[in-house]
Amino acid sequence: CRCNMGKKVNNIFFCLFAISWVAPTAYYGGSQECILSGIMSVNGKKVLHMDRNPYYGGESASITPLEDLYKRFNIPGAPPASMGRGRDWNVDLIPKFLMANGQLVKMLLFTEVTRYLDFKVTEGSFVYKGGKIYKVPSTEAEALASSLMGLFEKRRFRKFLVYVANFDENDPRTFEGVDPKKTAMREVYKKFDLGQDVIDFTGHALALYRTDDYLDQPCCETINRIKLYSESLARYGKSPYLYPLYGLGELPQGFARLSAIYGGTYMLNKPIEEIIVQNGKVIGVKSEGEIARCKQLICDPSYVKDRVEKVGQVIRVICILSHPIKNTSDANSCQIIIPQNQVNRKSDIYVCMISSAHNVAAQGKYIAIASTTVETKEPEKEIRPALELLEPIEQKFVSISDLLVPKDLGTDSQIFISRTYDATTHFETTCDDIKDIYKRMTGSEFDFEEMKKAPDDFCPAK
Ligand SMILES: *[C@@H]1O[C@H](CO)[C@@H](O)[C@H](O)[C@H]1NC(C)=O
Repeated sequence: CRCNMGKKVNNIFFCLFAISWVAPTAYYGGSQECILSGIMSVNGKKVLHMDRNPYYGGESASITPLEDLYKRFNIPGAPPASMGRGRDWNVDLIPKFLMANGQLVKMLLFTEVTRYLDFKVTEGSFVYKGGKIYKVPSTEAEALASSLMGLFEKRRFRKFLVYVANFDENDPRTFEGVDPKKTAMREVYKKFDLGQDVIDFTGHALALYRTDDYLDQPCCETINRIKLYSESLARYGKSPYLYPLYGLGELPQGFARLSAIYGGTYMLNKPIEEIIVQNGKVIGVKSEGEIARCKQLICDPSYVKDRVEKVGQVIRVICILSHPIKNTSDANSCQIIIPQNQVNRKSDIYVCMISSAHNVAAQGKYIAIASTTVETKEPEKEIRPALELLEPIEQKFVSISDLLVPKDLGTDSQIFISRTYDATTHFETTCDDIKDIYKRMTGSEFDFEEMKKAPDDFCPAK
């Protein structure tokens, strides 16, 4: 469709670019840009979404067939016959889970993209302690049954969970002497007399912090994050996480369909020659000699290398297994968090595992992806504690990517740049980025309270 090119369609006219990845065949991927173009379309904006790739999304594509994954990682030879049919595979380059009560699910409900997708509940959430993995306890009953803690610790942790469950930041009667905006989380742990191991899994496996910086910050956000975890878990039982059947590539396709319903235009395979800036402000984009005019532009870092800076690196190792991960009660999907303290690091290591149960692997196969923020010159050594949990590994695919962030907020240029995906295995930080871009673009908060649909009509597959 070339209908919008070269014409100024309306007074507000967005261009969105997806993330680039040099790819020979068509895959689909998920990205902040796809989600934002859907949300902006629903909000009545005119959206033109251009992508230099022949597929939606990019860095977070799901690769199919399996042969293409081997090619992309330069693994010599074809996949062995034991891998089954290549077409049965949809391997996410950046796997992530959705929190059942989290921000992406709310965005999906708001935009009604849920109607294009089927989800399954992830079977377990585990945490690493002293070389072993344990189920993350997050309810009173689970805390009492867990072998992660001693008896007295359990009682104290249970008290803490009850406190968190009752906590309401708008009701001082629930504070019990804590000031949510002032008291540091460290002090709250002290109040409940929790030990270091419990603090480790609470901060990293329930509140999902990647470092320990939160300990000295006001406790309100941490308490709310633990509530989000418990409420997400309460929703479907086994774990707080959901994953779409056929892989994450289903998400941007859903948002593309949505955008189209609301009049948005998607163009794939559209090379971008120039972003045209006048007096420091974007006025359009040049592609194949034509100019699309716009007042605001959203894009990923790969389109604007001079406007972003590198803040670190992430290592990801995709592992194909023929067995469930040990000591996870044969879960067909799970997350394992290795808190930094447990392996003498500054940032956590994450493992995200899915399988044929999600139509992303051949029968009897499992895909486990380990990731972490790179801290040394030997990232493969850093990630080893995670890989040891996965052995024997049939095939490994290793990648190291730069973490890029915009140098400015885009207020002057009206060019809004997303951040590259971090090492976390859930969408919460991605959604923070989406909300942040939304606020910078519109001047108002992305307000979940205004969302039309009640979450109750959303039901994952059994
Ligand atoms: C798995 O469980 C076995 C038996 O309880 C134990 O010996 C082993 O250390 C555990 N391994 C991990 C990685 O948790």
